[in-house]
Amino acid sequence: MEKLSDENSLVPKYLQENDLGEECKELLTTLPSEKGWITTHLYQYQGFWFAPIILQGVLSCQKHFQALDTDILLVTSPKSGTTWLKALSFALINRNKYPNIYINHPLLTTNPHELVPFWEIGLYCDKDLIPDLNTLSPPRIFSTHLSYESLPKSVKDSTCKVVYLCRDPKDTFVSYWHFINKLRSKNSETIPLEEAFERFCRGVNPYGPIWEHVLGYWKKSLENSEKVMFLKYEEMKMKPYFYLKEIANFLECPFSKEEESKGVVDDILNLCSFEKLSNLEVNKTGKMSFDIENKCFFRLGRVGDWKNLLTTEMIEHINTITEKKLVKHGLSF
Ligand code: A3P
Repeated sequence: MEKLSDENSLVPKYLQENDLGEECKELLTTLPSEKGWITTHLYQYQGFWFAPIILQGVLSCQKHFQALDTDILLVTSPKSGTTWLKALSFALINRNKYPNIYINHPLLTTNPHELVPFWEIGLYCDKDLIPDLNTLSPPRIFSTHLSYESLPKSVKDSTCKVVYLCRDPKDTFVSYWHFINKLRSKNSETIPLEEAFERFCRGVNPYGPIWEHVLGYWKKSLENSEKVMFLKYEEMKMKPYFYLKEIANFLECPFSKEEESKGVVDDILNLCSFEKLSNLEVNKTGKMSFDIENKCFFRLGRVGDWKNLLTTEMIEHINTITEKKLVKHGLSF
């Protein structure tokens, strides 16, 4: 395996590769690899592409995570609305604990990614540390970008709930391209749009290919709608009130008539809105524990920004892939 050393200085701290465990290092030597987006390489594991340190987190959580029936798992591809889903779900689940939503709610002072931890990008990415999650009170709520196939076995064996949120691959790509260019160190150049697009369409992006990722959860949600809830960013933007209630029903904590009439649903939606969250001091100036600025997670928060960046050829190309891979399964964007 090629080592980063000098190039590590160009990589954000949370993606640096100099702290990999032996198991991960050995595995990397056996996996297909391609040029990375931030790290030097991506490696293909169980059909999807990972940066090395993330792969270490994947291996660790696959091995050690023990699901409880009461757990809630939020799953997305990167840039599909993870931050929003985390905020909504956290506020929903904890609504009785923090009834005074505009005065002392944790979301007012803490980024949603800190309140709902990632498995492979946070909890499990230290090679020497297996987190003790038994101290967390139920319902525990976690997030991951893993494909359905790669989820820890206990998630599939338990009755824990999985909420999956996806987004039109065009907007996901555009959002990711902007994000990655912000993350790349000031010393390194931005990835040219055409090159990034070509790699994304081949599926060689972190956690790609997006189409297979979406399809895995789509199929599971059709097979077992009590286990997997399948959501689209575009639909949630259009009917947030409806979908927040749907999520509450799915998680078996429905809003009562009284709560609805008191405006609890609206309050949660307002608190978690792009406008509100992105203007909070913590999200304007704060940093995550893994060294990314919170503001990187808030850009436009709109549907259809791809129209401002992609050429007609690019749009046709990516739409054709989406049609070829998803439409026959009854899925479109
Ligand atoms: P854009 O780059 O298109 O603006 P993720 O949370 O999965 O990293 O996705 C980030 C995308 O979600 C970004 O999209 C970001 O602006 C948008 N986003 C962040 N918070 C949001 C919110 N509260 N509501 C809607 N979209 C949000």
